[in-house]
Amino acid sequence: MRLLTAAVTTMALTFGATVATAAPVEIKFSHVVAENTPKGQMANKFAELVAERLPGQVEVKVFPSSQLFGDNKVLEAMLLGDVQMAAPSLSKFQKYTKSLQLFDLPFLFRDMAAVERFQSSAEGQEMLKALESKGLVGLGYLHNGMKQLSASTPLRVPADANGKKFRIMTSDVLHAQFEAVDAVPLKKPFSEVFTLLQTKAIDGQENTWSNIYSKKFFEVQPYITESNHGVLDYMVVTSAEFWSDLDADLRSEVKKALDEAIAYGNSIAAEKASSDKQAIIDSKRSEVVEITDAEREQWVAAMKPVWNQFADEIGADLIKAAEAANQ
Ligand code: LMR
Repeated sequence: MRLLTAAVTTMALTFGATVATAAPVEIKFSHVVAENTPKGQMANKFAELVAERLPGQVEVKVFPSSQLFGDNKVLEAMLLGDVQMAAPSLSKFQKYTKSLQLFDLPFLFRDMAAVERFQSSAEGQEMLKALESKGLVGLGYLHNGMKQLSASTPLRVPADANGKKFRIMTSDVLHAQFEAVDAVPLKKPFSEVFTLLQTKAIDGQENTWSNIYSKKFFEVQPYITESNHGVLDYMVVTSAEFWSDLDADLRSEVKKALDEAIAYGNSIAAEKASSDKQAIIDSKRSEVVEITDAEREQWVAAMKPVWNQFADEIGADLIKAAEAANQ
């Protein structure tokens, strides 16, 4: 009996020691924006929820502001297993799929409510699978907001952008969009934008109120045209290998926490857009240029032909479904 007790104790100790020393599954979450943004807040909330619900089993480490990977490297790093999650903007997947270029088409979505309607539709949900053949899994969409045009001179009509250099994300649609107004687009990583603007290597860029505010672009851009000409949203992604290797129960808990964190990020995105815009106005560092409907129509007329250039790659039906979300 004593022998048996000793054996059981030894087993328990050994088992206990194994459990105690087993390292939690680590999820490195890399992103490029500041923490006080919808994406930054979403990632932090995700880490918090996982810490509360899966202590010792899964640990989420968030790396903001391109500290771990810039937006041009993060997906390659994910496929190599060096990072497990990220939420690049939908404009940064073109190397992996053409269909997501849809979201870059200028003046496609009237507002964020239309974006939300399309993303929740059957077509929008299907697009989360667009990266599967490349070994990536789309876990959900996350909002930032509508893009505005910032510049060193006021931009009221397309002719004002003539010959000006604009930083763009790595998207051929965005390239075509700026060429359509005879501007000069330059694909550059987000982490370089502030310096490019400060040193006047470029004249302008397009981004959301949240990114213009949190990365201080407004301090080096005297004019921001409220153009709402496009959308900047994200897809939260992981690698198929990491996701399928994760224990099924843990995977379902992690997904639940992520869904809640995304819902939280989405719930603060609209409020952030308007408070960050107000903070920029209050700073008096940058003037918000409001354009008339007639001026806006000129931008639409100049940029919308870009749709035709990409209709085959994206799919005409998908463009129609997205347009229908405006109703
Ligand atoms: C940009 O590169 O301008 C944005 O995609 C940054 C971001 O992640 O919001």
